[in-house]
Amino acid sequence: MLCIFAHRGAESSAPENTLAAFKTALNSGAKALELDVQLSKDQIPVVIHDYKLTRYNKEYNESVNEYTLSELKDIDIGSFFSTEFKDERIPTLKEVLELTPQSVMLNIEIKNTPKRHIGIEQKIADLISEYRTIDNVLVSSFDHLALENIGKINPQLKLGFLIHYPLINAAKYVNSTGLNVVSIHPNKNIVDEKFIEECQKYNYKVFPYTVKNDLEYQTLIDLGVDGMFTSKEEYY
Ligand code: G3P
Ligand code: MG
Repeated sequence: MLCIFAHRGAESSAPENTLAAFKTALNSGAKALELDVQLSKDQIPVVIHDYKLTRYNKEYNESVNEYTLSELKDIDIGSFFSTEFKDERIPTLKEVLELTPQSVMLNIEIKNTPKRHIGIEQKIADLISEYRTIDNVLVSSFDHLALENIGKINPQLKLGFLIHYPLINAAKYVNSTGLNVVSIHPNKNIVDEKFIEECQKYNYKVFPYTVKNDLEYQTLIDLGVDGMFTSKEEYY
């Protein structure tokens, strides 16, 4: 069965990575959610994609980790999407974990570039231990060192390697890390038959990002992917 992740929640219907977006995704029948995590200045894991706040609210130009949680909670990050969402605030990872039923697969993406969030792996691992059973959580990152770090903290955690640019034999490289990797999450533009074949050889699932239309959806299904990240609720 395909594993279809609601990318940043239902990002087409509500501001990305907000509780409204995750609630909408769940109400639309999503069985898997994707979210992005960074640290606030006071080291609290918060759910937000960009390292700077500007795209969400032009009054705030600094990086996420230059604001405390209490300062972040004052920021309207809904109006940029629609004034209907003016009360939306940056959720903590804890709040999203509390909202998400155990039956829903959760992909926690560690955002660690270009800003490094020192210690983010331990904070996330602790919250996962508190809130989730190990089977239905998947930790991913473009920062493969962050995956190595969290894998050392909890070797049972399932890991997903995010890959944006083509690599020579990506699956072989991933396998050489010796980590508990279950899936590779490639940019949809680098997926072809050879890529899938290599991943299958090492038993890695392939979940490309971010699928936005029927042509992309069908092309990837025909290639044999195991799921995908999408902004379209009709694919959930
Ligand atoms: O985790 C899949 C996808 O979210 C990776 O890219 O930039 O949307 O976080 P990005
Ligand atoms: Mg992401």
